[in-house]
Amino acid sequence: MNERHALRGMILHFTDDPGVDDTPRDGSCHFYPDGLVVIENGLIVRCGSAAELLTTLPDDTAVSHYPGQLIMPGFIDPHLHYSQLDIMASYGRQLLDWLQTYTFPEESRLNQRAYADDIARAFIEQMLANGVTSALAFCTSHPHSVDALFEAAAPFDLRLLAGKVMMDRHAPPALCDTAERGERDSRALIERWHGRGRFEVAITPRFAPTSSPAQLAATQRLADDYPGLVIQTHLAENRNEVAWVGELFPAERDYLAVYERFGLVRPRAIFAHGIHIDDEVRARLADAGGAIAFCPSSNLFLGSGLFDWHAARRRGVSVAIASDIGGGPGLSPFTTLADAYKVSQLTDQPLTPWQAFYAHTLGNARTLGIDGFVGSFEPGREADIVILDPAATPMLARKERRAPAPAERLFNLMMLGDERCVTATRIKGRKVFG
Ligand code: GUN
Ligand code: ZN
Repeated sequence: MNERHALRGMILHFTDDPGVDDTPRDGSCHFYPDGLVVIENGLIVRCGSAAELLTTLPDDTAVSHYPGQLIMPGFIDPHLHYSQLDIMASYGRQLLDWLQTYTFPEESRLNQRAYADDIARAFIEQMLANGVTSALAFCTSHPHSVDALFEAAAPFDLRLLAGKVMMDRHAPPALCDTAERGERDSRALIERWHGRGRFEVAITPRFAPTSSPAQLAATQRLADDYPGLVIQTHLAENRNEVAWVGELFPAERDYLAVYERFGLVRPRAIFAHGIHIDDEVRARLADAGGAIAFCPSSNLFLGSGLFDWHAARRRGVSVAIASDIGGGPGLSPFTTLADAYKVSQLTDQPLTPWQAFYAHTLGNARTLGIDGFVGSFEPGREADIVILDPAATPMLARKERRAPAPAERLFNLMMLGDERCVTATRIKGRKVFG
């Protein structure tokens, strides 16, 4: 969409971390009860109060008005497995059994390109219906699973990061690559997709148990050859997993040390879960610039444990918040945030709605290193936008009748909201859902 246009409604965006107090830090949060965001050539050009901006806007500017609705930067999901869409919410197992019982059989089915295409298209549709405009995704070990995802995302021009899973042991042969093949296929995918449109390829060793030392050495070669790339893997999600890593890598002092040995802990390395770690490991992660993807719904659903967000923050670890489908049983950022709030109540300090909505937008963008492009309405950012109806459900409508303050409204949304609240999703200004 090349012409200039504008969206009017309640506007919220962040330009910095609002902190953990009930009131956001000065200058971090921008809320306009009647605001306007102006878009040109798919980029944000201005954002502010409607009364002010409308006077300066050329007369021919089309304005879409969403009275009573909340206009925000699109949500960003920094850890998920698109291939697991259809096994979301599978009953009765914890991580290691869940992988064997549900996950590996389903991922094996993506050896059929047509099946991978079908799942990829459905995933993109679900993402946009939930107001998620960017994601960092695991594909499967099949290189064509990456092609399927990027091809499904291409018509929408999504800012999407994804990688071919590298795994060469402790899984069905149909899913295992080898150190050499995993490396070769990853290189080919990087050359084919990285930097094409808004796509990025991520180096993706599944987790320490499914990669031999030879394969971890191959991931290190990739990481060295492509120093700016995102790395994604899993860390200390489940107690049995942690014990298994101890048996498989007896020379290492702990789980993170396996990744450190192979040079995989660095800025833009995203470690999913990071539940069963201590302050010393947190400090090592923080010093190396690695980040944790907190996956509250998955952690509860798989019985993995309670992640201590504030302990990580105190040690300076960057924490993103993610759905982790299909371990997580839903793609809605509201579900993820509601579960994060409940976990925060059981650990240290309640997650404020400001911190929650910051985390799912600019915070996640910063952790992924894409905040120069998305996550806020600062001029020059790509206009990936979600429009939310805070009265979309009967219960939310009752709450709205009480004229909630902005923080209460956000809290109502995150606790009671779901995909019905997503009125529209826009990518670079263009409506792609709603
Ligand atoms: N650890 C290794 N693989 C996976 C996966 O697919 N999902 C989750 N939640 N944890 C993992
Ligand atoms: Zn995961």
